[in-house]
Amino acid sequence: MNFKPVLAAALVAAFCSSTVMAAEPQEVRQQEMKAGGEAFGAMAAIAKGQKPYDAAVVKASLEKLAEVSKDFHNHFPKGSETGYESEASIKIWEDSAGFKAANDKFAADVASVLAALPADQAGVTAAVGTIGANCGACHQTYRVKR
Ligand code: HEC
Repeated sequence: MNFKPVLAAALVAAFCSSTVMAAEPQEVRQQEMKAGGEAFGAMAAIAKGQKPYDAAVVKASLEKLAEVSKDFHNHFPKGSETGYESEASIKIWEDSAGFKAANDKFAADVASVLAALPADQAGVTAAVGTIGANCGACHQTYRVKR
């Protein structure tokens, strides 16, 4: 058996993952919000009746939102206030406790919706309301339009 291709593949994988790790915090947090926005959009489409209720879609969307909500606040180190077309408000650094609290509430709301897993369209509509309130509240205070 020839192990060289296996080793080469492992090296490529290691290189690629370290490249992702090395991404700037502004890029990482924007990617996370983009992914979270897509997941939320999939649930909103069900709530609006544009897409039929699909338990697998709802679960996958909530899992993505859970992942994002737990990690998002980790990507605001000092020095990353601007750049990469960031829409982060300076208030994130001025009131980091308030920002963390907003992020924690978002994570807690997503976790409780995921634990209960909405079982029908009405459930998804309620979930979109509960989770969506966090998106709006945080954006209003901690995101600016550039
Ligand atoms: C705790 C605060 C907070 C919460 C909660 C939050 N966001 Fe954000 N969001 C931000 C900030 C800050 C930015 C700007 C990040 C940047 O540009 O550096 C952002 C940016 C975005 C973007 C633009 C991403 C891009 O491509 O640059 C989208 C889309 C978005 N949010 C959707 C959502 C949705 C949908 C929700 C709710 C499910 C949500 N956000 C919840 C703080 C939050």
